[in-house]
Order: sequence, then structure tokens, then C-alpha cells
Amino acid sequence: MRIDITGPGPLLCFGGPYSNLEGTEAMRREAQRLAIPPNRVICTGDIVAYCANPNETVELVRDWGCHVIKGNCEQQLAELAEDCGCGFDDGTACDLLSARWYAFADNALRDDHRQWMSALPASIDFELGTLTARVIHGGVRDVSRFVFPSTANDVKQAEIDSAAADILIAGHCGIPFVEKFGTRVWFNPGVIGMPANDATPDGWYGLITPQPETGTAVFSLRRLCYDAQAAARRLARLGHVDSYAEALRTGLWPSLDVLPQAERQQTGIPLREIDLTISLDPT
Ligand SMILES: [Fe+2]
Repeated sequence: MRIDITGPGPLLCFGGPYSNLEGTEAMRREAQRLAIPPNRVICTGDIVAYCANPNETVELVRDWGCHVIKGNCEQQLAELAEDCGCGFDDGTACDLLSARWYAFADNALRDDHRQWMSALPASIDFELGTLTARVIHGGVRDVSRFVFPSTANDVKQAEIDSAAADILIAGHCGIPFVEKFGTRVWFNPGVIGMPANDATPDGWYGLITPQPETGTAVFSLRRLCYDAQAAARRLARLGHVDSYAEALRTGLWPSLDVLPQAERQQTGIPLREIDLTISLDPT
């Protein structure tokens, strides 16, 4: 799907609301504080996952009216699939944990929300100056592909090539990062519904701020501070996924199964907010 984002001011990108109503409410308040209208807000998917409020979180995003692409969670829930589609090995911690939250979410989700999810686009394209940008969830062809900061550059380059875009905006992996490859950019704004495994309870979001006077744009990664303890209490009251309630409290993931070695070694080290300036006319 192609969208037109011409107009002044920054774009706000975020991913992974993960049924975390407190985090999603905070994200919307932050957009209002920054005076960013819904048509300049893009969600990279996975509105429903680990936390306590699947229906209320979908309702909030639908009411907000921002752009949304389909994550693996939307895809699986819309198709009445048996699991979240991440392909975890049988019996691993991720496999066991995802079975519990997925069953809860699948059972709770309203039909009209499921139908709304099935109609979401798999990707969004837009122009930023002379550059083209594509928003995806995981990989260009595999919605559940995990691409991390440490993922090999040739893997990222191949993904960017297959998107035929200058800027690739992705989600899914849960760790925010921005990387420049020559004139091209990989931008993962992170997720708002779970912490970044950095021992802080904050979520993360991204801003893309065009600077017309210099022909550049600033790609920023920002912390989303919100009442994660309230989200944890609400989830703990349900009693079915205590590990994720604990993650909301501590800022540490319940399982590192999906993390490459480099990201495992970053466990508990607070991430830094980043601003990276990109030329919008690199020729
Ligand atoms: Fe995902």
C-alpha cells in the first residue's frame, strides 16, 4: 500500500503494542504531545501479543486511525492459526510461553478486530524527499524473520535490495536500532509493549524528522516512559503468563532463545537514545 506523508514535521514509527494498553495509551499521548497527526504515525504490527488487553489495545489503535501493517500476530490471529507463527522449536521456553499468551489472545479477540486485522496491508511504501521507504514487519518475504542489530550486513542488504527501497522500516525483533548502508538505511523503531531487555521498563519508538533546509532527515530512537508496573499488575492478575509480567517489571526478557550471542551479551545494559542524520538526496 502506498501512502502520502508530505507535510511538515516528523513521522512517528512504533511497533509491538503487544496487548499492552498502558504502553499504547502512552504512545498515543506522546504523539499528541509532539503534535504528530495520525496520518504521520506508522505501526509496524503485532498489536496483540503477550499482555493483558488484546481487544482494548486494538480498539485504541483503530480509534487512533494511524497507519498499521500486518505483523505475524495479526496474520496468525486473522487466519485462525494455532500459534503466533514465530516458528519456535518445540519445547523451548519461547514455544511454551507463546502457547499460553496466544491461546489467551486468540480466545479473547473479537471477530470484528480479527476481520480488521485480515484487511491490513503487509507493507507500506512512501517517499521521503528523493528516497523511497518501505515499512515491513520482519523480513520482506518472511513476516517472521528476525533481523537484529548483529544480523550480518549481507542479510540486511539482501532484504533492502529485495524491497527495492532506500529506507527499510521494520519491527518484530523487539530491539530498536538504526543502521546506514552507504545511501541506504535500516530503521527498527523498537516496540512499545515489552522492554528492550536492557533492564529498564521503557518501551521504544522512532521519529523521522525531515530537515528541508539541509536536505537531510534525522532518524531518532526514543524511550517511551510509561506506567509499566501498572501493565505488569494487570497481566499478573490474569495469572497465565507471569514471566511477561516479570519482564514488564524488570525490563528483562523471560527467554533469550531468539537472541543472537551479541544481543544476549547486551542483556541488562541500558540502551542509548540515538539521532542519525541521513541525506535525502545522496546523488
Ligand atoms: Fe512479530
